[in-house]
Amino acid sequence: MRKRIKPSFIGLLVWLVGAGHLTGCVSGQLGKNNSGEYRNGVVVSAKKEASVVGLDILKKGGNAIDAAVAVQFALAVVYPGAGNIGGGGFMVYRSADGRSNTLDFREQAAAGSSRDMYLDAAGNPVVDKSLYGSLAAGVPGSVAGMVAAHEKYGHLKWEVLLNPAIRLAEDGFKISAAQAHELNELKARFVSLNPRGTALLKAKGDWVEGDVLVQEQLANTLRQIRDKGAAGFYEGAVADSLVAEMQRSGGIITKADLKNYKAVWRTPILGNYKAYKIITMPPPSSGGIALLQLLKSVEPFPLKRWGFNRDSTVQVMVEAERRVYADRAEYMGDPDFVKIPEKSLLAGAYIKSRMHSLDWNKATPSSALRAGDLTAAEHEETTHFSIVDRYGNAVSLTTTLNGSYGAAMVVSGAGFLLNNEMDDFSVKPGAPNMYGLVGGEANSIAPGKRMLSSMTPTIIEKEGKLFMIVGTPGGSTIITSVFQTILNVLEFNQKMQTAVAAKKFHHQWLPDVVYVEDGALDSTTAVQLKKKGYVIEVRGPIGRVDAILKTKWGYYQYGADPRGDDAAAAW
Ligand code: DON
Repeated sequence: MRKRIKPSFIGLLVWLVGAGHLTGCVSGQLGKNNSGEYRNGVVVSAKKEASVVGLDILKKGGNAIDAAVAVQFALAVVYPGAGNIGGGGFMVYRSADGRSNTLDFREQAAAGSSRDMYLDAAGNPVVDKSLYGSLAAGVPGSVAGMVAAHEKYGHLKWEVLLNPAIRLAEDGFKISAAQAHELNELKARFVSLNPRGTALLKAKGDWVEGDVLVQEQLANTLRQIRDKGAAGFYEGAVADSLVAEMQRSGGIITKADLKNYKAVWRTPILGNYKAYKIITMPPPSSGGIALLQLLKSVEPFPLKRWGFNRDSTVQVMVEAERRVYADRAEYMGDPDFVKIPEKSLLAGAYIKSRMHSLDWNKATPSSALRAGDLTAAEHEETTHFSIVDRYGNAVSLTTTLNGSYGAAMVVSGAGFLLNNEMDDFSVKPGAPNMYGLVGGEANSIAPGKRMLSSMTPTIIEKEGKLFMIVGTPGGSTIITSVFQTILNVLEFNQKMQTAVAAKKFHHQWLPDVVYVEDGALDSTTAVQLKKKGYVIEVRGPIGRVDAILKTKWGYYQYGADPRGDDAAAAW
């Protein structure tokens, strides 16, 4: 495939002189300063093995896009809960010379889908129908996305980017304690949905940390993709396996759906927060518009003076979140199907007017639309990675199967998990999805339509230069996690790792609750907010941010979220 962006031989020279290394490795090597910051490039992802794959690509002279492609495929192997070839995602790219672009490789509803396909005869959503099994899956976009990214910006040969993932799949990798736990928890579901078996089921007994997971069928599928590009997945043997799986289990994706899938380059959403330029994802993700609305809503307030997570700070952020998520539910969907009033939603006067109703003495009550339930948090799983190469090209990429291990269904013979992204549609106006998000007509199901997302891969510039690369999984909490991480750095001067690790809170309009991580609010702040009528509930981890920050002195800090197994590899 075609090669562009930059050069390899300087990269090669540097690599010959000094080895790159992992988080926590000794300092003093080329590219690392005494503060543990790096100069030549960083990859931060949900798994150490994938970050190492990305770093090796950078060291071979690959650029950030090459590394992103290799990391995406590696995560499909070593992070099967969310890394994927059977799902989709979004990428924001900024080249070293300041041009930006975004890639939409979101899944798509199959041609045979219909508005009410998850409702019973009485018009109510059938429990789990949009969540498990082949009917929950949208047409996967990840492989087309990686091919498109590589064709436009890649430098190294395509096969070089696939080989590390193939090796990890055929040789196996050691699963973490968290992965052993998840796989054991899902065992019954895997057994019932995968009568022909899957590598994710251990032959005997329970998975334990350090067990080696070998995925031979997945390795074969990756080989097809390596040798035939998009056709290796959307046509031929892999497509046959996917369609056969659909036919066995009541799914609707056809060969034509697969062949017709296209990743789409879209114009980034651009905006400013104070002196910073925000480059983020347009619809069908709601993330970019919502993030900018949030930042603009709080911009006039003296957050820095109030302080990190103090009551006024939290109050103004929560009130902004409530208003923005209400807009999200009403107005957002796939821009190829619905007209999104993007300009109006981002107009300064509109955002200001929304915040006029903020009452410092009491919480604004959310309207009485049917409340969602956020307690499904344990099912969440998406993944984000951030990459910068030694030239300064930057990638922010979020990808998902939606729920943890997606539809819990592995395509027999092809070894990859299907997504359950159809649940991100509004299966019925006002009915909450697995993240408690409600939506209306704009996000109803239609053939070929892409379901609304919250994924918010984002890149920030300061004074025309790269400043931050940020994003996270977390379903509905993605937008608010990115929002808080950005403010932690921009307003509260936190280092990247501190900002990523900081405890978070979240409000999404409905349900009318401020969700907090344990310890996110000190007792004084919590008392103040409760007095004003805020309902505060402690929940599990919010977000899993992997981010990179460029310092004034030209080195990169990274933040690898301690909530997961996340790790950076840098040089
Ligand atoms: O696109 C979306 O907004 C969701 N499918 C993302 C799911 C997610 O983040 C789950 N992760 N933790």
